Amino acid sequence: MKFLQYSVLPFLLVVVILSLSGATLAHSHGDFLHCLSLHLANSSTISKVIYMRNNPSYSSVLNASIQNTRFSTPATPKPLAIITPLKTSHIQSTIYCSKKHGLQLRIRSGGHDFEGLSYVSEVPFVILDLLNFRAVKVDTKNKVAWVQSGATLGELYYGIAAKTKTLAFPAGICPTVGIGGHFSGGGYGILVRKYGLAADHIIDAQLIDANGRILDRESMGEDLFWAIRGGGGNTFGIVLAWKIKLVPVPVVVTVFTVNKNLEQNVTKILHRWQYIAHKLPDDLYVDVGITKVSSSQTGKKTVQAAFIALFLGGVDELIPLVQERFPELGLAKENCSEMSWAESVLYLGRAPRTSLDMLLDKNVIPRTIFKAKSDYVKEPIPESGIEGFLSVFLEKEADFASMLMVPFGGKMEEIPENELPYPHRAGNLFQASYIVGWRKEENAESGKYISWIRRFYSYMATYVSKSPREAYFNYRDLDIGSNNISGYTSYQQASIWGFKYFKNNFKRLVQVKTMVDPMNFFRNEQSIPPLSSP
Ligand code: FDA
Repeated sequence: MKFLQYSVLPFLLVVVILSLSGATLAHSHGDFLHCLSLHLANSSTISKVIYMRNNPSYSSVLNASIQNTRFSTPATPKPLAIITPLKTSHIQSTIYCSKKHGLQLRIRSGGHDFEGLSYVSEVPFVILDLLNFRAVKVDTKNKVAWVQSGATLGELYYGIAAKTKTLAFPAGICPTVGIGGHFSGGGYGILVRKYGLAADHIIDAQLIDANGRILDRESMGEDLFWAIRGGGGNTFGIVLAWKIKLVPVPVVVTVFTVNKNLEQNVTKILHRWQYIAHKLPDDLYVDVGITKVSSSQTGKKTVQAAFIALFLGGVDELIPLVQERFPELGLAKENCSEMSWAESVLYLGRAPRTSLDMLLDKNVIPRTIFKAKSDYVKEPIPESGIEGFLSVFLEKEADFASMLMVPFGGKMEEIPENELPYPHRAGNLFQASYIVGWRKEENAESGKYISWIRRFYSYMATYVSKSPREAYFNYRDLDIGSNNISGYTSYQQASIWGFKYFKNNFKRLVQVKTMVDPMNFFRNEQSIPPLSSP
């Protein structure tokens, strides 16, 4: 085990200075900054690492990775400081000083949290932003890579593609998502049917715990290593880097899009999709995105389902396969394109494909204002149910709403529910997620859009998993329950949301938390609580 001790001298200095000046150990922002600056090596480092509210770069650093701009308004609570560490000792000092001065620490990697929990808190807090921890080291010979948490999925995919066209990684669809939060919560993408989740392919990690110790898989032990692969970020420690196993893909893959709207029998085709998509060969992934559009035939508003697919093979093999297994789709060769796997990520992520450099562009996916929710579907929804939810899309609040249906089956069927904290495996036909957006100038009326998505979610209750109504942790939704903002949260209270995200794995997550962070230093509205917290 590798323990990194804090240097004792600066601590003594702080105590001496504070007692000499007669100051109390008030939990103030000034004390925290004083503590931190004493721990950082020199003043030129301080200006690159600590952004206080009066720093001209504070707002740009804060906003740089806010994906849901619902949490970027003048009313949004702001951190006392943003710390952008350059080395691990800066992180250890931040943990030490925020603990000492009673400040909450929010860890941010890619800033894609749906509820903004990596950069917003109702109690005094600081952000530890891993924007300088973004190295990607790919070893094609051993088919592994080390990736730091502050990198994006796009940077990881780019790093792999720069070395080989025959290896990939089964993580999320959107290239701007951060590794840190994504891997911590499971992480699914277009290879989910073939290979499972990102978390299923993590073989080692580097973590700093609440005592500032740097741990790897061996020194943290298998319980904690299990917990960080899907049990959620901001609970067990700060994960600095992950060692991952890469997976094989062919040099050429094929993608397609087929759109069907209400005038083109979409209800019946969606109904059929539910019986087919999870049973297709693992090499074929066909998801569905539902939105309101203007019909190209009539110009009237209609609801459209976009069937978007990745096939790990060439077009000549794909066409007969789809024609045989899913003839209702009417797939034709002109709907298909052959490309490399890395290009297919941009295609399925609905991002421009002008060059692979787009994978590195942190603005390739527009930042929007939204509220989202998720479900798991175990029985096909009858046609009447599909007609019902499609009609809710015609309501005026749904102009910027969408639903994504991600087929499971394949590898997800084979992995036991307790293998990792992510429990939604065998028996799920698909994962459904719903999202509603609105324009910035409509912020004052946000309530009506949030009511729309809550109404939609209530409508879906009949057709989705029950007892618990399961939800995907990485599609964070504070409507399903939350911890007390400050102070003690009981096991019973956290169970309300905990069993929805983790089913019975929630119990083991609580045990691990009790063991590694009994004082509940790493916490937020949906972090796992220890069995009894101070
Ligand atoms: P962010 O930095 O906001 O962190 C999220 C949570 O993890 C916070 O609680 C944070 O404190 C914690 N955390 C972050 N870094 C940490 C670290 N190093 N150590 C410990 N805790 C840490 N999901 C999916 O599975 N497949 C997909 O295709 C997509 N696509 C997608 C598109 C878009 C546009 C968005 C906004 C989101 C997704 N997601 C997704 C969801 C995504 O996986 C989820 O929001 C992740 O938590 C985002 O990770 P970030 O590091 O970007 O978030």
